[in-house]
Amino acid sequence: MADDRRPHLVVFSGSGISAESGIQTFRAGDGLWAEHPIEEVATPQAWRRDPARVLNFYNLRREQVRRARPNAAHKALAELERQGFRVSIITQNIDDLHERAGSRNVLHLHGEILKARSTVDARMQYPLPRGGIELGDICDKGSQLRPDVVWFGESVPHFGEACEIVAEADMLLVVGTSLAVMPAASLLEHAPLDAPSVLVDPEAAALAPPGVFRISQPAGKGVPELVRHWRREGRLWVPETLLG
Ligand code: APR
Repeated sequence: MADDRRPHLVVFSGSGISAESGIQTFRAGDGLWAEHPIEEVATPQAWRRDPARVLNFYNLRREQVRRARPNAAHKALAELERQGFRVSIITQNIDDLHERAGSRNVLHLHGEILKARSTVDARMQYPLPRGGIELGDICDKGSQLRPDVVWFGESVPHFGEACEIVAEADMLLVVGTSLAVMPAASLLEHAPLDAPSVLVDPEAAALAPPGVFRISQPAGKGVPELVRHWRREGRLWVPETLLG
């Protein structure tokens, strides 16, 4: 909305926001990539070498997502929007927990696990309300279906759109991401100079780039606290009492 004058919160979330919903993060010692090496399940080469293994990996992830429920962090962000704040969410997550909490403006940078897509035409997408993708499941053009996720080595189709959204932020709230993956992590550089950025992550002190405020708490605690302050005062700001 070009004439929307409401303060604009842009949220950039990573797997940490869904950790308290029971979804594994990636780079922890017991994270997903320690159990399933990236090059075996999340690259175009892995897909060519062993598509059944890749499909199985994402079928398991999909079941995990279906069982999960939005947590206090997802819910607080949706509530802020319902209260009349302008909230745009850019997520690296392939789960649908922001949507299920009630957020309406959600951009999935790395795709959506609850969708399949054609291997010959990325625009041909199919919702997966139940079940998984098996070898032999084909699109309307007769090609094998794959998960609608962005693998390592693939381009990030919505990155340009995400940069434009961040460039219109009055506040950038980064939640639960190690900022290890490009180009996603470089989104922070697109925030306007006068828009504060804050990272909510138990490891915030170690992870936040210079100039980014740090709230070293789990998302389920830090995000609702921030949102409570914003709703109470009707504006976006960084309360010093939460920092550290
Ligand atoms: N609340 C907030 N953050 C948490 C919590 C929690 N309860 N628990 C863990 N974290 C934080 C960790 O401290 C870490 O900084 O979540 C972050 C998870 O980091 P990664 O495992 O690197 O995941 P993420 O940043 O989401 O990865 C980005 O990498 O593998 C790709 O495509 C995948 O979208 C993913 C991208």
